[in-house]
Amino acid sequence: MGDVQVKDNGLIIEAERLSFSYEHQESLNLALNDINLKVKKGEFIALLGANGSGKSTLARLINTLLPLQRGKLLVNGFDAGIEANKRDIRRACGMVFQNPDNQFVSSLVEEDIAFGLQNYAYPQEEIASRVAQVLEIVGLPGFEQRNPSFLSGGQKQRSAIAGVLAVDPDILILDEATSMLDSEGRKEVLDTVQRLHRDHQKTVLMITHYVEEAILADRVCLLSAGRIIADGTPREILTQPELLGQTQLRAPFAVRLFFGLADKGLHLPEIPLTTNEIVRQICQSS
Ligand SMILES: Nc1ncnc2c1ncn2[C@@H]1O[C@H](COP(=O)(O)OP(=O)(O)OP(=O)(O)O)[C@@H](O)[C@H]1O
Ligand SMILES: [Mg+2]
Repeated sequence: MGDVQVKDNGLIIEAERLSFSYEHQESLNLALNDINLKVKKGEFIALLGANGSGKSTLARLINTLLPLQRGKLLVNGFDAGIEANKRDIRRACGMVFQNPDNQFVSSLVEEDIAFGLQNYAYPQEEIASRVAQVLEIVGLPGFEQRNPSFLSGGQKQRSAIAGVLAVDPDILILDEATSMLDSEGRKEVLDTVQRLHRDHQKTVLMITHYVEEAILADRVCLLSAGRIIADGTPREILTQPELLGQTQLRAPFAVRLFFGLADKGLHLPEIPLTTNEIVRQICQSS
């Protein structure tokens, strides 16, 4: 049994002064440097940042794949610094990784999903019904007997999501889960993630390189060299090309178009985030 959960304050992740080094605890070469992050239950956060900015390190600390070195970290009320809490924390945080092919342990979708359930000693009679239920949720009903190797990229990632959903985690962490997919696969996965957030009240932490994907979140945290340099709504963060430039990211297409048009003398009333928004504004202004 893990530590007793602390009192519920509506926060599902609380990181305070979190630092981490792969080399040595006292090293100056920090992968994470003094991170403060409070995530509310049910929030959808996009974590954006350049290569090597510390996104995966933060995700791995949150689900205890990496040990806590410095700072405080509570996940679902459990202190991540206490070894006995690891099991509860890992169960609370389902993680989906970049490469869809590295996430399967079986050649049958149903066995793959059942694997996690067996690890948590779910009764045998409940397993088949849960497998069917999570496949339904990710939009792959009837895929039990399919071989994951022969699914499309988007189907593979949705099947991997079904695997982590089976044990009913409160938090879903996606570490560049769409980066190896084509646009159709990306859309499938993003639609699924949005549905899990909206209809199933999952807290989502989505790590991505794609600024356009971050528009879907409630909140965007921008990481640079191990620090959170900006934290706000997508509109607050993604409409600032200079800020994004500090992390080698380009603003969304609509934002760049807005500033490009302004340079040519066409001043639209509001900085848009999506193509639809800018089209609407152009039509209204002409
Ligand atoms: N296993 C490791 N051993 C040593 N250093 C590591 C290890 N993993 C990451 N690092 C270093 O820690 C820093 C943060 O890496 P991290 O993987 O968290 O970045 P990231 O934001 O996820 O990058 P990417 O966008 O490339 O996935 C980088 O300087 C990286 O080189
Ligand atoms: Mg990474």
